[in-house]
Amino acid sequence: MSSISFIGLGGMASAIAARAVAGGNTVELIGRDAAKAKGLAAALGGGATAGTFGTVPAGDIVVLAVPYTSAVQVVAQYGDALAGKVIIDISNTFNADATGLVTPVGTSGAQEIAKAVPASAHVVKAFNTVFGHVLAQGHSLDVFFAGDDARAKASVSAFIESLGLRPLDVGGLEMALWLEGMGPLMMGLARHGVGSFNLSLGVSVLS
Ligand SMILES: NC(=O)c1ccc[n+]([C@@H]2O[C@H](COP(=O)([O-])OP(=O)(O)OC[C@H]3O[C@@H](n4cnc5c(N)ncnc54)[C@H](OP(=O)(O)O)[C@@H]3O)[C@@H](O)[C@H]2O)c1
Repeated sequence: MSSISFIGLGGMASAIAARAVAGGNTVELIGRDAAKAKGLAAALGGGATAGTFGTVPAGDIVVLAVPYTSAVQVVAQYGDALAGKVIIDISNTFNADATGLVTPVGTSGAQEIAKAVPASAHVVKAFNTVFGHVLAQGHSLDVFFAGDDARAKASVSAFIESLGLRPLDVGGLEMALWLEGMGPLMMGLARHGVGSFNLSLGVSVLS
């Protein structure tokens, strides 16, 4: 089992953290609102604790669960406090109407975050292709992830499995762009072809 810290206390942090507690992981909740962090930790139970924003997180894995528009600034604010951590970037980077991405051509949100963390930290993109409310329903879902460091990816993969989810490695961090591109795809499916946000994307392996 893993030791996980969440920076951010919104819907995604709550949904992943609840499954993390159920999966026997050690969970720390961190937010800019200390009272909210304590409240969420108490609500989750399972020994979840509240940490202090901006100080060294307790977890070996840190789930960055803030909007992409704040993510680079938040990790820059943390600076060396994230040294040696495996950082899971769960952000979606789509624009206001979810028809495109806010990141410049030639990069991705995950790569921009990776530039801002200490050299000893490793960024893995994961969870951006699952809706928080669907995660909270407890289904077994596919979770795509991308990253450059094999050990970091192995620990994220084991963490995903501990949540009752199937980890699917899509390659190096350069692939994060295509995972982020799945954000508008999911929004388009929800608004058009499926007609509901109660959906998940997965892979069928055919024999
Ligand atoms: N919602 C989904 O279904 C979904 C699916 C896949 C990926 N994602 C991604 O997951 C991430 C979190 O989404 P969410 O739906 O959980 O969002 P959310 O419910 O709006 O929560 C965002 C959290 O980030 C915190 N935050 C925002 N700006 C901050 C800053 N500058 N410094 C510190 N904390 C800050 C907020 O703090 P306060 O509590 O103080 O406001 C809040 O706790 C986003 O990157 C999103 O793209 C979301």
